[in-house]
Amino acid sequence: MEDMSRKFAFYEIVPKAGRILTLQEEFGNSQPVHLEIGSGRGEFLIGKAEQNPQINYLALELKSKRIKTILRKLDPEKNQNVRVIRLFVDANVTAILPEASFEMIYIIHPDPWPKKRHNRRRIINQDFIDVLWKLLKPNGKVRISTDHLDYADWIVKHFSIRRDFKSLYEDGFSKTAPADHLETFFEKKKKAEGFPPFFMEFRKVEKCPTLVD
Ligand SMILES: C[S@@+](CC[C@H](N)C(=O)[O-])C[C@H]1O[C@@H](n2cnc3c(N)ncnc32)[C@H](O)[C@@H]1O
Repeated sequence: MEDMSRKFAFYEIVPKAGRILTLQEEFGNSQPVHLEIGSGRGEFLIGKAEQNPQINYLALELKSKRIKTILRKLDPEKNQNVRVIRLFVDANVTAILPEASFEMIYIIHPDPWPKKRHNRRRIINQDFIDVLWKLLKPNGKVRISTDHLDYADWIVKHFSIRRDFKSLYEDGFSKTAPADHLETFFEKKKKAEGFPPFFMEFRKVEKCPTLVD
């Protein structure tokens, strides 16, 4: 029988209070690291990790049940380049993750909080975009997708007022999936219900020093 506790201990990082992770130590190598926030059942995460063994993937997911689902699916024979953390991600995530460390951040179908009075719970807000900027390496990118038109508009609006991110798409989003996209169970389900995804991608741009005359 598979030794689950050993396997889980290999993949799961339990951050220590007051200590910022050293990614090189956690993965045991210095490969580039991509971050996924809200990994759900981990199809995107594991699919990507198998496609790109030369990249390390760090997953942050709030729900323990989903973390367990991901851990069960991971196979040490195939998946050396994945680590997971159970975490409610918000602007405090920089207390755990090192800044200027990620080439890519994926946020695939974040909870849309569709009711007006719940909109403020959406993970994308100006403070969180500041955090994304801090976490990304120079020229790093954040890719976000949602099947919720109002949330897509919200995300585009939040990024469009920033001078420190540049959209890959002229209209802010695309209805065509990027060539390397992987469909999740959740995305398939929403598509079948008549809610196709919108894809967004924003590149970190260095902040210009303030001009003084
Ligand atoms: C709508 S599901 C999408 C899951 C997956 N990305 C997919 O496309 O199938 C959103 C996921 O984000 C997780 N989540 C929501 N808010 C979060 C937060 N603040 N920090 C970490 N995970 C979060 C939820 O537990 C859930 O698994």
